[in-house]
Amino acid sequence: MSLIFPPRQDSDSIKWQRFAGKDVLPLWIADSDFAAPLCVTEALQARISHGVFGYGETPQELSELIVERLWQRYDWRITADDIVYLPGLVTALHLAVQTLTQPNDAVFCPTPIYPPFRQAIKQHGRDGVFQDCHTVDGRWLPQLPSHAKAKDIRLAMVCNPLNPGGTVFRRDELLKLDALAKTNDWIVCSDEIHCDLLIDENARHIPYASLNDDAAQRAITLMAPSKTFNIAGLGCAFAVIQNPTLRRQIQQALEGLIPAVNILGFHAAIAAYRHGDDWLQQQLAFLRQQHQKVLDAVNALPGLSMLPNEATYLAWIDASQLNHPNPSRLFEQFGLGLSPGSAFGNRQFVRLNFACSDEVLDQALTRLRAAVGSLAN
Ligand SMILES: Cc1ncc(COP(=O)(O)O)c(C=O)c1O
Repeated sequence: MSLIFPPRQDSDSIKWQRFAGKDVLPLWIADSDFAAPLCVTEALQARISHGVFGYGETPQELSELIVERLWQRYDWRITADDIVYLPGLVTALHLAVQTLTQPNDAVFCPTPIYPPFRQAIKQHGRDGVFQDCHTVDGRWLPQLPSHAKAKDIRLAMVCNPLNPGGTVFRRDELLKLDALAKTNDWIVCSDEIHCDLLIDENARHIPYASLNDDAAQRAITLMAPSKTFNIAGLGCAFAVIQNPTLRRQIQQALEGLIPAVNILGFHAAIAAYRHGDDWLQQQLAFLRQQHQKVLDAVNALPGLSMLPNEATYLAWIDASQLNHPNPSRLFEQFGLGLSPGSAFGNRQFVRLNFACSDEVLDQALTRLRAAVGSLAN
């Protein structure tokens, strides 16, 4: 078994279409270039050959796999009833803000952050309490709001592992958030979509909701097989909501507005969770090599730096010392399509997706060097 990199240039990929017709390598959106595991393609082929695609039933089998997976991996005991399936987690970010807060409530969100967090807060007219992460011992960590601000907050929206930044929060760090949440009676929406993609072999993911019974009652945990197995286009994600009142609120908001997960998404998720772990280990070994290459290359260049990722295949690169007004535009001029840091809240950074083939990454790093070198001339 090995990772397969089908050509994506002429496919329907958003990632590759953005720069279609240009000599720009797309290392931006959080989408990997690996084919999904064979177990997933075979399950999809088997389902397609059935030939009938009427309304599907939510498969109990998937709920059982998720219950078992969360118990095995995190000692987190949930029941099948706690799971709410969704076609995507951006939907869940919006639902959390819209449904679980009132117009006068504030929402806490550590930044820089995956853009839909900020968009959800803005779109629903809530007051955002944004606090920039800072570095502590080589890791990006959120700064928690003061007690005065914390009182107006109703919802905390956190991303663990952190995107961008790649931090995997440790138990003591989560407990600090939990203490504040408890004192001020916050709901905590914890987006854990990247939890399987651990780059640091010593990092262990801890779901916020698994901390204690109180945290479980105030948490909405967002997870999906989409990043892990590169099946985001199939639209199968889920929220775990153990508090029945919060769950009912979200389910009512979904009703009639948000379509069910499609049958192919369910089949892919079942196959991935049942049979995909060997492939995942292989992917992780590969991503760790790619990460090391990026880390070494970036930190050897004058004007660029990055901290090691504990998780995610997204390098968060500090370009502030280049003293260039628009680093992502500079890199694009040299044939490298990165995510501009401005989208996440810091225009002096760029985000580089290293879930690509050796060939693409090597070429990308050559272009990165050329772009930086051009400033010295
Ligand atoms: C932190 C985070 N949450 C959610 C998503 C997207 O989720 P979905 O495709 O399920 O809407 C992404 C995609 O990059 C992400 O990084």
